[in-house]
Amino acid sequence: MRHLSSLADIPDMPAPSVLVPTMGALHEGHAALFRAAREIADKDGSVLASIFLNPLQFDRPDDLADYPRTLETDLALCENLGVDAVFTPSPVEFYTADHSIMVRETLLSRNLCGATRPGHFEGVCTAVLKLFHVLRPAAAVFGKKDYQQLAIIRRLVRDLSLPVDIHGIETVREPDGLALSSRNLSLDPEHRADASRIRRALLAARDLRETGEQRSEGYLQAARHHLLQDAPPGLKIDYLELVDRENLQLLPKVAGPALLATAVLYDDVRLIDNVEI
Ligand code: PAF
Repeated sequence: MRHLSSLADIPDMPAPSVLVPTMGALHEGHAALFRAAREIADKDGSVLASIFLNPLQFDRPDDLADYPRTLETDLALCENLGVDAVFTPSPVEFYTADHSIMVRETLLSRNLCGATRPGHFEGVCTAVLKLFHVLRPAAAVFGKKDYQQLAIIRRLVRDLSLPVDIHGIETVREPDGLALSSRNLSLDPEHRADASRIRRALLAARDLRETGEQRSEGYLQAARHHLLQDAPPGLKIDYLELVDRENLQLLPKVAGPALLATAVLYDDVRLIDNVEI
């Protein structure tokens, strides 16, 4: 496996490649992305990972400071999974000190995480566009847990005519249903044990479909009830929204493909999940 730790190493990059962009603290969810990337790349292509804790997408300095950093084990996991090259630029090299260009999405980022994390998707789009530009992958793989991110990156590619195929991969879960996330490592044991309620709440709301429920408020009320019933004191709903699956705008009624998505805070650990309706 090649380790490209600087922009200067990039001419060495194997091509054509399938890129898995990450921020490190890799877990089984990322492993599923690497496996999917290998299948997409086929025998002749290569799988490339980037590990870059992108400072531009953090709206809170303490969130960036607390984000787990596990580079040594991340590199070992990549090696074990047959990743061909890993790109680990430093923020100082990746963004020049006085960089002044940002990429802003103006529709899909209005709700969900975009509403509660100002500037987050500008940071994501800027980093991803730059990764695509410097690494020139033929395809890239993203998880559906970050559904809004995936939808926005598809838009980025469509609207800026980028020659990259985007693949969305199903969320990998713990046996109790909690979506795998680097942030799970930061939960205290009581909150970790409780956190499976997020999946249960979304599924309980989705089951209303069978009753013919069409009002978004019906789904939201059911999910809210399951999220808050007997919840530990540290739990807060950051957002709970029902949106159109294509343009991510709020829906008063469920008539076509919809997405019920939430972000839940356990003290200051923020977990997201979603379910298609
Ligand atoms: O999902 C992530 O890990 C990040 O948002 C990404 C796509 C690597 C951009 O920094």
